[in-house]
Amino acid sequence: MNRLSVIGAGSMGAQIAQQAALHGLEVILNDTSAEQLRKAADSNRGHVMRRVEKGKLSEPDAVAALERVRQTTDLAEAARGADFVIEAVFEDLGVKRATFAELDRLAPVGAVLASNSSTMGISKIADATSRPERCVNMHFFYPVPVMDLVEVVRGPLTSGATTERAMAMARAMGRTPVLINKEIDGFIVNRILHAATQEAYRLFDAGVADFEDIDVAVEKGLNWPMGPFRLGDFSGLDVTYNARLHMFKATGDERYRPSPQLEAKVKAGKLGRKTGEGWYKY
Ligand SMILES: NC(=O)c1ccc[n+]([C@@H]2O[C@H](COP(=O)([O-])OP(=O)(O)OC[C@H]3O[C@@H](n4cnc5c(N)ncnc54)[C@H](O)[C@@H]3O)[C@@H](O)[C@H]2O)c1
Repeated sequence: MNRLSVIGAGSMGAQIAQQAALHGLEVILNDTSAEQLRKAADSNRGHVMRRVEKGKLSEPDAVAALERVRQTTDLAEAARGADFVIEAVFEDLGVKRATFAELDRLAPVGAVLASNSSTMGISKIADATSRPERCVNMHFFYPVPVMDLVEVVRGPLTSGATTERAMAMARAMGRTPVLINKEIDGFIVNRILHAATQEAYRLFDAGVADFEDIDVAVEKGLNWPMGPFRLGDFSGLDVTYNARLHMFKATGDERYRPSPQLEAKVKAGKLGRKTGEGWYKY
């Protein structure tokens, strides 16, 4: 099981492909955009060569790992001969279903089709294929070379053999998998992150403490590398806000209602680091 195809060469797909190649897997990386593939190759070369500069990787190993990622804009070429496919295209249900239907037609019948979606359980996508038992979620975290976790989520029709292959693939890529037995919004990490962050927003909205002090309390008292407000600025406050809105609409649960002060920041276009200001100024 060492021929991996990665579909979508954006922020996640490029890094997933490189992570696998660094662990000896032969990878084909596919994107509809040749320009995106070029950017992915440049970015991966930068990351891998920085490891060489830091003395963490020899130059011949780095060059070999970069060469193990082949690229193509042709989905048929990417899927042909794959043992395992990881999809990382846009977070759009229609695009994902169309991609899975094509992969089902083009990839060997025994190949596993995994989705890196952050929010869509595999059951929403797998019924576009004739092999729902071989479809599974594999949720990686950004940046992939740093974040050592993959949430493997079993859909109602995913077979035990498929979840085992997904767990084995994550390990083969040098990542630690956890198994989630039930399809659930937010999986494990985002549910716990949401719960803690929502509490931080409630304290702030109620005037209990300033956001700076809440960040310091969480960083020093819980040893999080970043408090919830700093983390929001880092990820993008629009991303944080939309994730809450999604959970609120999906569950109707008041606990997920976005904070009014978070909503105001997003409406003012203060989205965090990427716009120069969010909770903090950059
Ligand atoms: N960015 C994150 O922090 C993060 C973390 C975990 C999971 N995810 C998930 O990973 C997936 C990808 O996210 P991203 O941030 O890399 O997105 P992105 O927008 O950076 O990249 C998506 C890529 O898919 C390509 N694409 C679109 N349609 C395609 C098709 N039919 N065939 C081949 N390529 C196609 C696009 O050209 C683009 O390069 C999403 O499902 C997202 O939920 C993202």
